[in-house]
Amino acid sequence: MDNLSRLPKHVSLIMDGNGRWALQRGKERVDGHIEGVNSVREVMKTSLELGIEYISFFAFSEENWGRPQEEVNCLMELMLKALDNELKTFTDNGVRLLVLGNRERLPESLKESIDRVCSLTSDGPKMTMILFLSYSGKWDILQAAKKMAQELIKDPGRSFSEEDFGELLTTARIPDPDLIIRTSGEERLSNYLLWQAAYSEFVFSPVLWPDFRRDEYLRALEEYSRRDRRFGKVK
Ligand code: IPE
Ligand code: IPE
Ligand code: MG
Repeated sequence: MDNLSRLPKHVSLIMDGNGRWALQRGKERVDGHIEGVNSVREVMKTSLELGIEYISFFAFSEENWGRPQEEVNCLMELMLKALDNELKTFTDNGVRLLVLGNRERLPESLKESIDRVCSLTSDGPKMTMILFLSYSGKWDILQAAKKMAQELIKDPGRSFSEEDFGELLTTARIPDPDLIIRTSGEERLSNYLLWQAAYSEFVFSPVLWPDFRRDEYLRALEEYSRRDRRFGKVK
């Protein structure tokens, strides 16, 4: 792993291509989501081995509520099952779980499971895993802007720096992603971390998410390691 000289502190994954993976095999779209959970597990395990501090997954977007009800229900059930199944892996490996997004539309049983797993793992010292669930970047910025407006009503003279505004986002105190990987050949952000991705590196993999395993992940990390991050400056 010499070619991993520079590891990202925060890697974020836009897991895409589950549906296509299933259709290519004559299966139902949900079978792709089911197999995709194994990729999450493998990427998480590899990240733990490498000592990556923050790993996040775009699991369900606000826009994904517009999919057929049956698929939405399956995804919610799958999420519930995965959380319960992985609790032991989290606690055994010192993983702290955070779930961020608009909770309002989530089923009650899933909200309860999220609260339980997040509180049982809250002191995980090794790695923070973030699941973006019912999340969209514009929604996050808007909810932060509403909080800022309320603060300004209370104290009209107060000023807000970029850092202050960042503290109002759901991702407060989480470092911005250094690397965003999107699978399945799509090259767009799909309303993901709009504010936080300001200086992220992007790696687009043609591999469909259920096939995105250790080797593909390491390849993406190697590519990141070769990037020259200048942040607008001259080196
Ligand atoms: C990603 O796979 C999973 C979610 C968005 C929940 P897709 O379901 O988007 O798979 P494709 O893009 O249709 O192949
Ligand atoms: C983005 O994938 C959302 C998640 C990975 C959860 P989509 O498949 O929903 O995005 P679009 O529709 O191709 O932009
Ligand atoms: Mg997709």
